[in-house]
Amino acid sequence: MTTLAIIGGSGLSQLKELNIIKCEQLNTPYGAPSAEFITGELNHNKVVFLARHGNPHTLAPHKINYRANIWGLKQLGVDRIIAVAAVGGITSSMAPEHIVIPDQIIDYSHGRLHSFFDDKNHPVTHIDFTYPYQPSLRKALITAASHAQLSISPIGTYGCTQGPRLETSAEIKRMQQDGCDLVGMTGMPEAALAKELGIDYAAIAVVANWAAGKGIGEISVTELEQHLRIGMIKVIKLLNAFIALT
Ligand code: HPA
Repeated sequence: MTTLAIIGGSGLSQLKELNIIKCEQLNTPYGAPSAEFITGELNHNKVVFLARHGNPHTLAPHKINYRANIWGLKQLGVDRIIAVAAVGGITSSMAPEHIVIPDQIIDYSHGRLHSFFDDKNHPVTHIDFTYPYQPSLRKALITAASHAQLSISPIGTYGCTQGPRLETSAEIKRMQQDGCDLVGMTGMPEAALAKELGIDYAAIAVVANWAAGKGIGEISVTELEQHLRIGMIKVIKLLNAFIALT
């Protein structure tokens, strides 16, 4: 029996569709996770939900205790994570409200506690990270999108910035030259930590805005929130279809 977790990002601090069975505040060797772990049923399947930024949304991307979050999920027997994340669209086909199942990451974040293997009890271990998102979990999400008749992008490179500020247009230009299609602030070290603990991990990226310099003028946070609300309706549809197929 496998256990699925959904990590909700900005715009998804609660999963209202979840029939809650229990809420647990876990302590971990790495400190406190972002929020209670909520176990419930979604479409008659067991799901553990975690609000990445806390509920209500208070934790900035660089303040999230990614290690405690992933460790806590492992303690609960989770072996698959679907991470939902708001992003800015860099590539022209990735407009606001679009959904992307990314296949690659470039990490520009810094100063985050990004490994479980960093003390004498957990000596250095080099994990393979060629494919940061688990291929069969990604494939299942892409199939679910097609069942739900959602038009999505099945690949994309996610660039993870430090935040909490948004980027300059020059930073986005550089990221595009590097090969980034999307920009977000929370994809790392979350994906790598899941890999370190042997948990399958894939992401649903929801485009909330054109990345800096890709739209007209400055980024409007009000518009960003509106796009995110509409994008999240698609995410719920996709999650329901995914669970119905598993
Ligand atoms: N940049 C970084 N993270 C984001 C953005 C962005 O433009 N939009 C939503 N999350």
